[in-house]
Amino acid sequence: MATLIKNGTLITASETFQSDILIEGETISRIGADLKADSVQVIDAGGKLILPGGVDPHTHFDLPMFNTVSSDDHYTGHKAAAFGGTTTVMDFVPLESPLPSPLRPSPKIGRGDGGEENFKYSVDLWLQKAEKAAIDYSFHMNLTKFNDKIAKEIPSLREMGITTLKVFTAYNGRLRLDDGSIFKALRIAKENGMLVMVHCENGDVIDVLVADALASGHLTPEWHALTRPAWGAVEATLHMAAMAEQADASVYIVHMNAGGEVDMLKYARERGVKVMGETCPQYLFFTIDDLRKPDGAKWICSPPMRSKEDNARIWEGLLQGILQTIGTDHCPFYFDGTRPIVYEGREVAIPGKELGKDDFTKIPNGLPGVGDRLPIMWTHGVRAGRITANQFVAYNSTNPAKIFGLYPRKGALLPGSDADIAIWDPEKRVKYGVAHAHHRTDYNLYEGWELVGYPEKVFLRGTLIVDGEKWLGKSGGGKFLKRGEGQIL
Ligand code: URP
Ligand code: ZN
Ligand code: ZN
Repeated sequence: MATLIKNGTLITASETFQSDILIEGETISRIGADLKADSVQVIDAGGKLILPGGVDPHTHFDLPMFNTVSSDDHYTGHKAAAFGGTTTVMDFVPLESPLPSPLRPSPKIGRGDGGEENFKYSVDLWLQKAEKAAIDYSFHMNLTKFNDKIAKEIPSLREMGITTLKVFTAYNGRLRLDDGSIFKALRIAKENGMLVMVHCENGDVIDVLVADALASGHLTPEWHALTRPAWGAVEATLHMAAMAEQADASVYIVHMNAGGEVDMLKYARERGVKVMGETCPQYLFFTIDDLRKPDGAKWICSPPMRSKEDNARIWEGLLQGILQTIGTDHCPFYFDGTRPIVYEGREVAIPGKELGKDDFTKIPNGLPGVGDRLPIMWTHGVRAGRITANQFVAYNSTNPAKIFGLYPRKGALLPGSDADIAIWDPEKRVKYGVAHAHHRTDYNLYEGWELVGYPEKVFLRGTLIVDGEKWLGKSGGGKFLKRGEGQIL
């Protein structure tokens, strides 16, 4: 049945206006005053805001790491996202070899060719994991190995609907590529209308500092941050901008965390380099001091938290248009994975941060956040007067949709767009934390934060999937989105 949402205030990336909105099938069919339609269910949204569903460009569901796995899978993470108003996520596909391992038991898909890493095998494996999707999703491909064969295969990703590659300047010996390979990848990406995303840190310096820290018996969580200095992220950001310019390609810097990175992006953008940036809420609100707390392992992610000055410069970077998006880098682990939590009526325990209780290098890096992003950014961004409601929509929905080739299907309130809509109650008060967030983990970074403004109803392609505290979504209800070429913002 069609749905008519009446009397709400629509908020887009550029406008705020009162209007009705008619959903027919999976899409928005009309937007205007006093809309009427036969046999529709009518929702009175008087006093409420109507936002396009959030688009999170950066998640890691079901990701194997350090003999465990990120604790939200492609169902539980999607459900948490939906409760927070997000209806589209983009997950990173690890580049895999078809050889089975304990954490990657033999999947029911073909074995690729010859046991070597390949994209088709890796994507099929991730698609298989994501069969339980509850919201819409697409993939980025991690480019963590490079040779002539892989180079030749890159264009085949486009046919699979994947137009983005992530490269790393850190994680030596595991994920990092050398400069020559990154440069070649940039040129191939440019030729094929693809975008290269970069994790910016200095892997060589990190390895030396980690070895020094271990040799000196520095094993506590703060050393995770102390061994990954901000300058490494800063120089890697400028370096990647310079590489992009030399390859005449564009790059997108993920999870920007240091004020100096913003300065480098500004420098490059002012010179016409096609470089864009993403930050995450954790880099706006937390610092290395959080890693010094008794439960500091909860804040371990890579890159790490920095300082208050870095937080402030990243806020400025958003306001000045130097950064375009807010993602989450959602990659949760339990704080204490020996103790089960009850999830959908069942006890679930997944090894987590306790794996590194005596050694920071063994703590799985990553945090929960996919469901927190919109409610936290609303209260502490919009209500706090730091950003406007339209900027909130731009950073969290419209800009990621544009950059990653999903606009105007996603990230928009327009006739013809998918009816992914969050009806937002701007007055709802919530004392936030693990009891409110729906992540499958045992802690929340924003425990006890007072929020004002919260999603009330969430639609995915016209279907109501969240109604207050009621979950109406389902495993398998999400669709894989093949993406085309995105825009450079
Ligand atoms: O600590 C993090 N961010 N884990 C996920 C992997 C990555 O580098 O984005
Ligand atoms: Zn990363
Ligand atoms: Zn990540």
